[in-house]
Amino acid sequence: MSIRAVVITASDACSRGERQDDSGAALVQLLTDLGAEIVENRILSDDLDPLTQTLREFAQREDVNLIITTGGTGLGPRDNTPEATQRVIEREAPGIAEAIRSESLKATPMAMLSRGVCGVCSGTLIVNLPGSPKAVRETFSVIAPVLPHALDLLAGRTTHRK
Ligand code: MTE
Repeated sequence: MSIRAVVITASDACSRGERQDDSGAALVQLLTDLGAEIVENRILSDDLDPLTQTLREFAQREDVNLIITTGGTGLGPRDNTPEATQRVIEREAPGIAEAIRSESLKATPMAMLSRGVCGVCSGTLIVNLPGSPKAVRETFSVIAPVLPHALDLLAGRTTHRK
């Protein structure tokens, strides 16, 4: 299954050009190393409505089957990525978010502060990752082994893999 991915960085500071988007860049690199095609890499502010709208637009595109966000999953007043994702997804994939948090707890207790969610909209898998290059690397390594099979299933290829 080919991975056609959109990377979205949710960060007020990055969207204003005050900080470099190292997390988005790390995610693009990791996905490319996995053989994914990067359809688009977008930096947005933490505003809820534009985030929701952008997730919906990309999810509905035929040439996208994966959206990975980084940032905006914490407890801050401007952390809106989980809410935007919840508004868009038709079905939740709680096991992915559970695995990310439980594996991340081995690296840092701060993992429990991430409220990231995962789910499906229009045949596209949406995954929320936390927002630092270190967090991106740690959490991506959790989901990378299951991404091809997850996208196969979404495309209706339901033969089981070990
Ligand atoms: N998960 C991993 N694997 N590694 C990390 O460094 N950072 C945590 C957590 N999850 C972290 C992690 C921290 S410090 C926070 S505040 C939350 O993710 C939310 O981060 P976010 O608001 O940037 O999404």
